[in-house]
Amino acid sequence: MSILFEQESRTFYLNTAHTSYQIQADCRGYVHHLYYGRQVGTSHMEYMHYYSDCGFSGNPYELMDQKDFSLDNVCQEYPGCDAGDYRVSCLSLQNPDGSFGVEFRYVSHEIIHGTYRLPGLPAAYDDGGRAESLILCLEDPVTGLALKLLYGVFEEEDMITRSAIVENHTKGTVVLHKALSACLDIPFGEWDLIHFPGRHCMERQAQRQKLPDGVLTVGSRRGSSSHHHNPFVILAAPETSEDYGECLGAMLVYSGSYRIDIERTQMRAVRMVLGIQDEQFQWELQKGEQFVMPEVLFGFSSDGLTRLSHQYADFIREHICRGKYKKARRPILINNWEATYFDFDSGRLLDIAKQASELGMEMLVLDDGWFGRRDGEKDGLGDWYVNEKKLAGGLAPLIREIHGMGMKFGIWVEPEMVNEASDLYQKHPDWALTVPGRPPAMGRCQLVLDLGRREVRDYLYQVLSDLLRNYPIDYVKWDMNRNMTDMYSRALPAHRQGEVHVRYMLGVYDLLERLTGSFPEVLFEGCSGGGGRFDCGMLYYSPQIWCSDDTDAIERLKIQYGTSFGYPVSAVGSHVSASPNHQTGRCTSLATRATVAMSGTFGYELDLTTLDELEKQEIKGQIARFKEYAPLIQEGDYYRLTNAVEDRYFTAWQHGAKDGTEALLNVVVLAPQANPTPIHVRLKGLREDACYQELIFGKTYSGAALMHGGFTLPIMSGDYPSLTYHFKIMQER
Ligand code: GLA
Repeated sequence: MSILFEQESRTFYLNTAHTSYQIQADCRGYVHHLYYGRQVGTSHMEYMHYYSDCGFSGNPYELMDQKDFSLDNVCQEYPGCDAGDYRVSCLSLQNPDGSFGVEFRYVSHEIIHGTYRLPGLPAAYDDGGRAESLILCLEDPVTGLALKLLYGVFEEEDMITRSAIVENHTKGTVVLHKALSACLDIPFGEWDLIHFPGRHCMERQAQRQKLPDGVLTVGSRRGSSSHHHNPFVILAAPETSEDYGECLGAMLVYSGSYRIDIERTQMRAVRMVLGIQDEQFQWELQKGEQFVMPEVLFGFSSDGLTRLSHQYADFIREHICRGKYKKARRPILINNWEATYFDFDSGRLLDIAKQASELGMEMLVLDDGWFGRRDGEKDGLGDWYVNEKKLAGGLAPLIREIHGMGMKFGIWVEPEMVNEASDLYQKHPDWALTVPGRPPAMGRCQLVLDLGRREVRDYLYQVLSDLLRNYPIDYVKWDMNRNMTDMYSRALPAHRQGEVHVRYMLGVYDLLERLTGSFPEVLFEGCSGGGGRFDCGMLYYSPQIWCSDDTDAIERLKIQYGTSFGYPVSAVGSHVSASPNHQTGRCTSLATRATVAMSGTFGYELDLTTLDELEKQEIKGQIARFKEYAPLIQEGDYYRLTNAVEDRYFTAWQHGAKDGTEALLNVVVLAPQANPTPIHVRLKGLREDACYQELIFGKTYSGAALMHGGFTLPIMSGDYPSLTYHFKIMQER
């Protein structure tokens, strides 16, 4: 039993293998957060909290003489608003009478086997039937507004999921101005914030800073989770390192605009609230209606950041990603984008495909430009019919030939968008999000379709399901190449325009649910100008996401390093591209490009018809090696051996089998030295007493030696050289 309820003290003990989360409903019904951290079993943690009159902090009416009790100071599970708690809140709303006040009290609860469901939203699931869930029912005693707090407990995985549903049981319409998913109050301690800011072609650049006084906000107003901030943060004790110390993660299962606020309060506590972005948000909740908030995944580790990353990676692989490819090795693909951009025809594609199949690649992905009048960025989005000028005879003969070569066939789509120069826009200009009378802001010459509208989604479902039904397509790359502006829907009245960005996201999820459900054999890969929507919301529908439009192996070291804090390697779309690199102009060896791309789903994205014999032989070897390493890379643990953001000399990382029987060590030298200091790393996750053979160079070492003494690499020279070592257990001593 991972959830226990103690009737007398009205305490809920949520215990996982190594963590505890504790909640108490006090005698007045206030729902206190007592504890989240290392396992304490059923030790009651109320004793730890100390409340005093902190001055100018309101007191509930019935406790007006008891000045040490203020909602401004109490650790809470879900703060309301305008009731004496001045810290950042989860909720801001107006009651039917126009007042802002809301304050929830405990009414009842339910403990269920399995996971809760969030209608319309992606959420962690549990096929094994071991998860338990707690549903706390709260109510505002004055208005009757109801709140359900949902908690999922995944015992072995050491993860707690949370969400909330507000239900309007008041006498009229409630207007939500802010409705966040969860609050986490941490009463004590110094904390650093680790977060993942970035930009297009430079996503998830891990950053660590001491929490300042005031409120620090991470978020997006872009209608997507964005390149600019990933919806994942970690609070770490100042002394916490990869292998030591306490840290706590919070990750949103949501792909739209969001916010995460972390406040250092006047009493030196920390409050974190997170959920849907409240800017340009307003939701009219009629009597009887409910508003469901996106899920948050909380993880805690008392053994450092590596452990926390493994918890998230394993959890996402097992409980977020779905479908046939969830655990299967993904086909090694060749994508034509950086080989041809928009300039291709069937003949050119078949030349590339032929070469790819001879080298051992397993799938050709036909990227942007195959449809409508699409010869550049300005035309065609929305017209999902084949451009026969480029593909004579259509898709059927092309796919037939590619399948005939023994390869799968994949295709690129960007269904959420429309170009003004398209048949779709000419027919349905009102389907785009634009404000009447105002020229819309453009992004990549395209507009965003109003996926909040049922008829738009039905149309897209029809067109895309026809495509997938009429042609034997094995893979879909689902792109989204601009952020949202002009958030105005022609289908909503003026006072409901604040619902647009949320309805849009619910619409995307609805469309993806229908399509992935109808075509379970098809592998979906998410994409948004690379990693602009790299989050658990999308991973629920596509087990992999194109990690970045930056394919430069050296810049990818940092991008993949940052991504590894929260996400599994099996989710990271990564390809070997041309040298000089198209984004940076940097030259790197084919070997180094492959070393980096192999820490992901692995594929190629360059013109294979220009390769010389030596390169072809090298690629054949890489493909054979990847097939051999894939189970270790995809199912094993990822270890960051250096800090890729700060590295100047070399970057090292390791893939390790969960049972410690095998490891793959990768090192890329960033700046070779004339009089070099040795390159030395310590391996992780091996068995101390076992003997390992390094399979590429043939020597043997003990696990203890490799982990405690470490491993010294030979001197490497030239531009960005790299080496990979493969260690396999021989016998236990
Ligand atoms: C985005 C993707 C690229 C490519 C182009 C095509 O930028 O990230 O991989 O598909 O679109 O327009």
